[in-house]
Amino acid sequence: MTSAAAAPWWHGTMGYEAYARSFADGDGDGIGDLAGIAAHVGHLAWLGVDALWITPFFRSPGFDHGYDVSDYTDVDPIHGTLDDFDTLVAAAHGVGIKVIVDVVPNHTSSLHPWFLAALSDPHGPYRDYYIWRDPAPGGGHPNNWVSHFGGPAWTLDPVSGQYYCHLFLPEQPDLNWRNPSVADEFDAILRFWCDRGADGFRIDVAHALYKDEQFRDNPLIREPEQLTDPGEIFQSFEHRYDLDQDETVDVYRRWKRIVAPYQGILVGEVGTSDPVRISRYVADGALDTLFYLKPVWMTWQPLVLLDRLRAVHELNPERISWVVDNHDSSRSVSRFGGGEVGAHRSMAVFTLMASLGGMPFLYQGQELGIGDGIIAPEHLADPVATRNVGAAGRDGCRTVMPWNDGIANGFSTTSDCWLPAEDRPLEETVAGQIADPASWLHRYRALVAYRKATPALWTGEATWMDTPSGAVGALRRHGAVTIANLADETVTVELPPGLWSLGFASRALGETEATGSIQVPAQTAVILEPA
Ligand code: NOJ
Repeated sequence: MTSAAAAPWWHGTMGYEAYARSFADGDGDGIGDLAGIAAHVGHLAWLGVDALWITPFFRSPGFDHGYDVSDYTDVDPIHGTLDDFDTLVAAAHGVGIKVIVDVVPNHTSSLHPWFLAALSDPHGPYRDYYIWRDPAPGGGHPNNWVSHFGGPAWTLDPVSGQYYCHLFLPEQPDLNWRNPSVADEFDAILRFWCDRGADGFRIDVAHALYKDEQFRDNPLIREPEQLTDPGEIFQSFEHRYDLDQDETVDVYRRWKRIVAPYQGILVGEVGTSDPVRISRYVADGALDTLFYLKPVWMTWQPLVLLDRLRAVHELNPERISWVVDNHDSSRSVSRFGGGEVGAHRSMAVFTLMASLGGMPFLYQGQELGIGDGIIAPEHLADPVATRNVGAAGRDGCRTVMPWNDGIANGFSTTSDCWLPAEDRPLEETVAGQIADPASWLHRYRALVAYRKATPALWTGEATWMDTPSGAVGALRRHGAVTIANLADETVTVELPPGLWSLGFASRALGETEATGSIQVPAQTAVILEPA
């Protein structure tokens, strides 16, 4: 157990992700910006969140909507200015909310001055900032690595005759972290944002920075069935040589020394499923916490979900940032069955996550219990969708935050937004749900408030309890029991001795006290405390 005196600021807190392009548009150009976010920190404070992660707002050509950075220490004009960043930090800090900046160290934009110099001067100092390989003997790609976003992970530079590596788009060349100058550059980038008031970093593809020194082929696990689905092709390989190399974790020990004087948090996006491999990233002074992404990517499979949550939690009881939604996958409400059923399943899972310790993060709109936005095929904007025939892409979860039922759902003053989607009805908006005490918004707010007021929920030893079915997860702490019934029928769960009172329920329930056992309705999570 972490003592209150020694606990870092983020212990027991709730994070919130704002997708920079879609949260709020302050200048009416149809693209979200920092001024828009600053204008809505009141919503986040009302909701009770403690830390705001904003997706990249740096200068970028926008091929991957900001994750292709051409200047790490300036704000892209579509998102505002450095002054806007300062204003946003002041506004957030003014209501007690920390600001987490999204740093992208695995790759830059192909229009970053470093890459332009690497191309124009193959013998100059910037060439080695990136990963270059000669063609394979006999010609062709240097090895069998594939890009997350479709096609090979190598693109030919016709001038030098060498290939450069990119685990994402060809417009996102991977940096060479074996070059010490790259590490020095990022030290300075981190200091720049900390000096400007950032409270830490979310680290993009934190498990990808180092690659195998010998660039060996990845083992093929199975032949992909859908040759047009980049995700499935990527999953067809064991990523033994392009991801999760041992040296990568050392980068975060170095970064932790940089952010520690600022009390900065490091939250890694670690797309590795193995609970043991995950643990390395939060061990011995490396990352503070990391996203466990399996629940963001899976369809409704409650047994698998609970099994994985338990395995990861048992090894890392306090160091995971639990998420069921983010800007890279279909919203859980849609993925888990859609409509009311999907919304109840999603909230039951998140209620359990809120009881696991660590630092859960909500994704913008999750607090409204909404599913994916509907976008006409001609308006799709995600390169995963536009560059791969038949791939769904990630636009559905990136439609604008619905604030009210006005123009562009109150996101902007123009209806001509960067990702045009169908307007949502009033009951799916912040304004509509604030007015309804029985709404998802009020229930999420109640969960956040209950968690904050109940340290017993995230401190002390946690024991997973025996339950009547693998679709029921139950966790006991000294002063709290959480039960998530992800089955489709009511279950009866035995309780530890004593009288228990209902602290929180993910849906309205009749009972307020229980002893011996409790009946939990389908797709519902409850939190009990000693009466
Ligand atoms: C993970 C980010 O969450 C995603 O949006 C992005 O496309 C890739 N990393 C590449 O930066």
